[in-house]
Amino acid sequence: MTDAQQAQDKPTQPAEFDAGRVPKIAYNPVLVGQPALVTGANSGIGEAVALGLAQAGADVAVNYVTHPETAEEVAHKIEGFGRKAIVLKADVSKEDEVDAMYAAAIKEFGTLHISVSNAGLQQDSPLTSMTLQQWNTVIGVNLTGQFLCQRAAAREFLRRGVVKGVSLAAGKMICMSSVHQQIPWAGHVNYASSKGGILMMMQSMAQELAPHFVRVNAIGPGAIRTPINKPAWSTPDAYADLMTLVPYKRIGEPDDIAQAAVWLASDSADYVTGVTLFVDGGMTLYPGFATGG
Ligand code: BGC
Repeated sequence: MTDAQQAQDKPTQPAEFDAGRVPKIAYNPVLVGQPALVTGANSGIGEAVALGLAQAGADVAVNYVTHPETAEEVAHKIEGFGRKAIVLKADVSKEDEVDAMYAAAIKEFGTLHISVSNAGLQQDSPLTSMTLQQWNTVIGVNLTGQFLCQRAAAREFLRRGVVKGVSLAAGKMICMSSVHQQIPWAGHVNYASSKGGILMMMQSMAQELAPHFVRVNAIGPGAIRTPINKPAWSTPDAYADLMTLVPYKRIGEPDDIAQAAVWLASDSADYVTGVTLFVDGGMTLYPGFATGG
């Protein structure tokens, strides 16, 4: 099909989900010998990232906090790709649990080269009824949790340094952010604040760690088909509403994020540090201005 034909086939109006537009791209073995730890890896984006890294050659530590059976399933899939997997329970907002988890992964694999702080949650509420607990829980998991995980990773990366022949970098960190590090979100003040915090945390870590050859980046997913936002895509009306916010007119798939994570973790991205890679179908392009302003 020519590009012109394909462009013609793309819906110009909000449309229902079209399975034919979901990419199915194979992974190249660019992460062999580079063990990874992924938090929140038993569902949604974390699961896809863990499977993507494994398909690219990494052994993977699969973190979860609830539903161990789903973490085991992800581990079995990783083993199906011929890679090692270890399942590790930890609440990322708890310092002792995070430190014990990184120590266990390092013991199992010998070291770590890739750390993906992905675990996150939403506890939505209008501002005036948002409780301190809702605020603290979301900041605790989404922001403090990423700090604790990447601090533990940094300690290992700096201890070990660059391993010639494995990667040009001493370690790669990927923080899972969101379009809401940039797009304000009424009714989600705690969540948007946590993601805004990730931007500065990620860039400050990147600045501090670059002289040690550690690369630190973030991914900013838009609307991705995962359990966290099921109400936004699971009915035709909700999907049509969602598409008014997505210029590229399809929902993102978890594998769209996994592909970005593998690239950021690989030496193909060796000169990339301190950036947020938005993977959002154009959600950050102020789609309301397409026809006005
Ligand atoms: C949120 C989703 C939302 C998406 C786009 C994500 O960070 O977790 O619930 O659909 O941003 O608004």
